[in-house]
Amino acid sequence: MLLLTGATGTIGMPLLRRLTAAGVPVRCLVRDPRRLGVERVRVQIALGDLSDHLSFRHALRGVETVVHLASVIRDQPNGSIEELAGVAT
Ligand SMILES: NC(=O)c1ccc[n+]([C@@H]2O[C@H](COP(=O)([O-])OP(=O)(O)OC[C@H]3O[C@@H](n4cnc5c(N)ncnc54)[C@H](OP(=O)(O)O)[C@@H]3O)[C@@H](O)[C@H]2O)c1
Repeated sequence: MLLLTGATGTIGMPLLRRLTAAGVPVRCLVRDPRRLGVERVRVQIALGDLSDHLSFRHALRGVETVVHLASVIRDQPNGSIEELAGVAT
């Protein structure tokens, strides 16, 4: 199982399409699964947020590879850029 964060983003979505087309089992850590579009039916969905450590600890179960593309470039309501981009990573 591969865990992909940032699957709804500029880089993450084309990567996700390639992975699912190649038959790679993928779990996506997402805040809103609707943003995955049609790909949401082809993946495991782990609801989560970089501000919620328990959510991505849960998402990591059984995972061998992580592609971490969730990207934070400024403070968000749930955490500072240091917490979300640094500590969470
Ligand atoms: N785009 C480029 O040309 C480029 C070039 C060089 C390097 N990079 C690097 O590649 C990585 C991905 O960039 P990108 O352009 O694809 O980013 P992006 O389009 O801005 O996408 C950001 C992703 O991060 C997710 N995200 C944001 N805050 C989150 C949070 N608190 N918890 C969970 N997920 C969160 C977003 O999910 P939501 O859908 O929920 O908002 C979205 O999937 C970054 O590290 C960037 O520096 C990008």
